[in-house]
Order: sequence, then structure tokens, then C-alpha cells
Amino acid sequence: MADLEGNINAKDFGIGKPQETPGFHVKGAGQLDFGMRHRLGRIFREDGKTVMLAFDHGYFQGPTSGLERVDLNIVPLTKHADAIMATRGIIRSLIPAGAGTPLVVRASGGPSILKELSNEQLAMSMDDAARIDASAVAVQVFVGGEFETQSIKNMTTLVDEGFRAGIPVLGVTAVGKELTRDARYLGLATRMVAELGAQMVKTYYCESGFEEVTAACPVPVIVAGGKKLPVLDALTMAHNSINEGAAGVDMGRNIFQRGNPSAMIQAVNAVVHDGLGAADGHTMYRDLSGGLED
Ligand code: R5P
Repeated sequence: MADLEGNINAKDFGIGKPQETPGFHVKGAGQLDFGMRHRLGRIFREDGKTVMLAFDHGYFQGPTSGLERVDLNIVPLTKHADAIMATRGIIRSLIPAGAGTPLVVRASGGPSILKELSNEQLAMSMDDAARIDASAVAVQVFVGGEFETQSIKNMTTLVDEGFRAGIPVLGVTAVGKELTRDARYLGLATRMVAELGAQMVKTYYCESGFEEVTAACPVPVIVAGGKKLPVLDALTMAHNSINEGAAGVDMGRNIFQRGNPSAMIQAVNAVVHDGLGAADGHTMYRDLSGGLED
């Protein structure tokens, strides 16, 4: 391990020079095996971007607001998502198998919101991921958390199993209350996740230096939605994330806690895939929702 003393701050991120991925449209995936690329190709459209709908919150939070009835509130939205992020329990019990929406399946878990969240274990085998036809599996990584090493081990175990099965891994960087969501931290966490083998990283957006976070991460960075924001702010975050190098968003509460979730996911799609500005996306939300502001 390199001596940390005298560490020189990174500064040459080649901003504005996109990383080349010969032969494939997903960042960093050009040299992966066929099955991996085939699955990543379901999640990311030809533009290299994705709109993922996250509703796996129940795995540690129970029936949170907007997710009380996944059959009524979420299933109708899935046709607007490039992929859905959910637990195998919800997928098997409520998601119509015929719908064909690519699945990113939550594969870590353990503690509830009543306990120390970083103490997760693997909660699903790769065999079952294959059985359920997962396009990817998702694992939480708690860089800086109390159980940092255990969560990294969860991820690397899954990455090894994923290579055997041809199933990509989404490493999700979790941010505890005590950790700052700045470019320095997010750059550390996303790069660690990519270096240790995940084929995609999910993380948070930050106002300053996010371009450096995405530039230094050799695989797609997908931005988490986080808590519900005003419509314009959520669309601005999506727009800025894409402009600053993200390969998409994985939004939950900012979609399903809206007055009109269907209108919101369509506006997010237009921002991510069609380059619509945030203000125009806001207008689109109002038009589709019959004038709603929230
Ligand atoms: C993240 O750690 C979990 O996958 C969450 O359940 C999900 O990412 C939350 O989505 P959002 O923050 O957009 O509601």
C-alpha cells in the first residue's frame, strides 16, 4: 500500500475529454464478456445513459411514503424506466414477469433503520440473481463507515460471482450522517468501487467538483435522487449530473413521492436522454400533470 504521507492532491482530470470505450456504448465496458455487455446494454440505451427507478427502500425502511402499495403506485411507472432497482421479494411478488423491464436487484441488506446501517451482509446469491434474470445486482458500500471493510468485501465477493455468471454489479456508495457529500469524498468512494471491480457506481451529486468525480471514475456513474426536492431542483440536479459526466440517474422519492409520478419520470427521461433543460422539464411536468407544482 502506498505511503499516505506526502500524498499530492489530484488535479489533472482531463475535463472535457471523454473516456473512450471502443466497441461499446457503456463507459469502461468494451472489454467485458458478452453476457456482461448484453446485460449492461439492457440498462443503458445507445446514448450510454439510463433512467433507473429505485424503489428498494423497503429493504431497510419498511413501507415508506409512496411505496405502501407497489402494485398500485409503482408498477404503472415501470414502462417509463430503462431499468428498475428493487428487491427480489418485491420483484417476485409484484412485478409482472411479462413486462420485460431490466432488473437491478438489491443484493445486500441486514440492518433496519433501527440499527447501524453499515453492518450489511450479502442478502442474495448470484444463482438467484440469474434465476430472476437480473440485468445487474446492487450492493451498498460504506466507505468511511463503521463496517467499511465488510461492505467492500460484500462487493468484491459479488463481483467475483458476477464475473462467473456474466452479471454486472452496481456498487452503491452510501453516505452516513457523519460523512460529507463533497467531491473529495465522492471521488474516493466511486473510484474505490470501480477499482475493486464494480461495473457501475451509484453515488450522489455534489455542487462543486462533480465533473472530477465522473472523470476519475472509469465506469458509469449513476446519480442517486435522494430526498424529495422541489420539481425544478430535482430536474436541475439530473440535468447538471448529465452535463457533468454522469451516465444517468437512479431516482426514487423524487419520482414516486410526487403528485404525479408518471409525469415526473417522463420529465426526467427527457432531461437525461433528450437534453431537455431543467426549466423545460419543469414545464413538461406541469403540462403532463395538469398543472401540479409538486
Ligand atoms: C440506496 O441506497 C437505496 O438503493 C435507496 O433505496 C435508493 O437509492 C433511494 O433512492 P432515492 O434516494 O432516489 O429515493
